[in-house]
Amino acid sequence: MRKKLIVANWKMHKTLAETEKFMQRFPNEIEEVSGIEIVICAPFISLGRLVDLMRGTPLNPGAQNMHWQKEGAYTGEISPLMLKEIGVKYVIIGHSERRKYFGENDVIINKKTTAALNNGLIPILCLGENLEERRSKKTEKVLKEQLYGALDEADPGEEKLQRIVLAYEPVWAIGTGTPAGGDEAADVAGYLRSLLNRKWGALSEKVRILYGGSVNEDNITQFTGKKDIDGALVGGSSLKESSFAGLIKAVFYEGRS
Ligand code: PGA
Repeated sequence: MRKKLIVANWKMHKTLAETEKFMQRFPNEIEEVSGIEIVICAPFISLGRLVDLMRGTPLNPGAQNMHWQKEGAYTGEISPLMLKEIGVKYVIIGHSERRKYFGENDVIINKKTTAALNNGLIPILCLGENLEERRSKKTEKVLKEQLYGALDEADPGEEKLQRIVLAYEPVWAIGTGTPAGGDEAADVAGYLRSLLNRKWGALSEKVRILYGGSVNEDNITQFTGKKDIDGALVGGSSLKESSFAGLIKAVFYEGRS
């Protein structure tokens, strides 16, 4: 059974002081929750402190990006080794905002995904079509290119493949308040799993697939209730302790009912 996974993507939000404030209350708010993996992807500058504050809690620290080299003359970049050393476990790769504003393409995303796997990090690989691609019914084509582009290694090996997390994030649903429908997201998640299956067979059943895009505490179970969706990548609704805790508790109680 795949363990449910809920990931907060704070994007460029929260100063160090705001991160500390969040962590004063948040672990208490989810005290009753068990059996769900929870990750918070914070800005680089807060990660070291976040790792400390998460000790003794069930929370896991994640980054929102990284470079693919271990070190080098890459001004302004952060390497997988640096993340690993301070205790970061997860890293978001290929978020649509990185693709759109920072020119990341499938070649770069492939290097980053491979580097995350080779350095013992768990990549959360983001995939998704934009509105125009959706309108012209190109969703499957786009996702196939993005997925196979990112994983364009003959065989990353069983241990590594199981570690990858996919996040289906339709660009038109991110930050818009208009999420994909539960059935629609489930169909796409099923399609992504079938693509994995074509390449790696039964191992595809072990890969976790998240949905992301305007997820909140009221709609989360439309997604997590589906067979191929194993959790969510959450932006706006992860910024407040109460809304993020509410969302996690909704998944927890759904699993028990
Ligand atoms: P949103 O962002 O939940 O604010 O739509 C999701 C994301 O970009 O990961």
